[in-house]
Amino acid sequence: MIVLKSPREIEAMKKAGEILAACHKEIAKLIKPGVTTWEIEEFVDDFLRKNGATPEQKGYKGYQYATCASINDEICHGFPRKEPLNEGDIVTIDMVVNYNGALADSAWSYGVGQLSEETTHLLKVTKEALYKGIEQAVAGNRIGDIGHAIQTYVESEGLSVVRDFIGHGIGAVIHEKPDVPHYGLPGKGARIKEGMVFTIEPMVNIGRYQTKMDLNGWTARTIDGKYSAQYEHTLAITKDGPIILTEQ
Ligand code: MF3
Ligand code: CO
Repeated sequence: MIVLKSPREIEAMKKAGEILAACHKEIAKLIKPGVTTWEIEEFVDDFLRKNGATPEQKGYKGYQYATCASINDEICHGFPRKEPLNEGDIVTIDMVVNYNGALADSAWSYGVGQLSEETTHLLKVTKEALYKGIEQAVAGNRIGDIGHAIQTYVESEGLSVVRDFIGHGIGAVIHEKPDVPHYGLPGKGARIKEGMVFTIEPMVNIGRYQTKMDLNGWTARTIDGKYSAQYEHTLAITKDGPIILTEQ
């Protein structure tokens, strides 16, 4: 069942989204060679609490951290760790903020120092793919229109879209209906309606789209070891189009 949200609920989620966006802006300033994702984790935990919010991922289905920190060939759900980031790395920081019971979810990929041309292209295309998806997130369209726009664009740039992890409705809990794949066919899937709140969060790979799971049971990485990036926003559908609740 897809739970539609009232304007007041959307307003509450927007407040959570504003805190999340502000946090990402601070993270952008912190990322450089030598910094660890453990330091980012501690910064985020502290930043959220200082702003009267809590990290919703901590304790979710047994996950232990405020952030997911996925480096290079890690696609998603990497654990924050005490290893320094290196020049040329990319790291995706993903988090869900709870502010007075309202949630918002946003992931952002960051480059560490100087990046190769291939990695720069990956980040550019992945971010652009998110916005191509958002353009399709309008009442009356179908969920498949979103994935189709993303997949078509990403593949036209010679990159691939991860299938094993998808966007999702969000509300009282992190993951609700609808499922929002980043691939698929136009005109297919659920009809998009005013009051829906969901994420679009394409994970894009330089090489093959297939994933493999680490022994920790959480972290997914590319099967060919090539880099993967991700950008995610939480969106509310209104009659005037999508509102990006986590816009930076
Ligand atoms: N923010 C993640 C998502 O986009 C949620 C990860 S679940 C966690 O779906 F447990 F790892 F936090
Ligand atoms: Co999400």
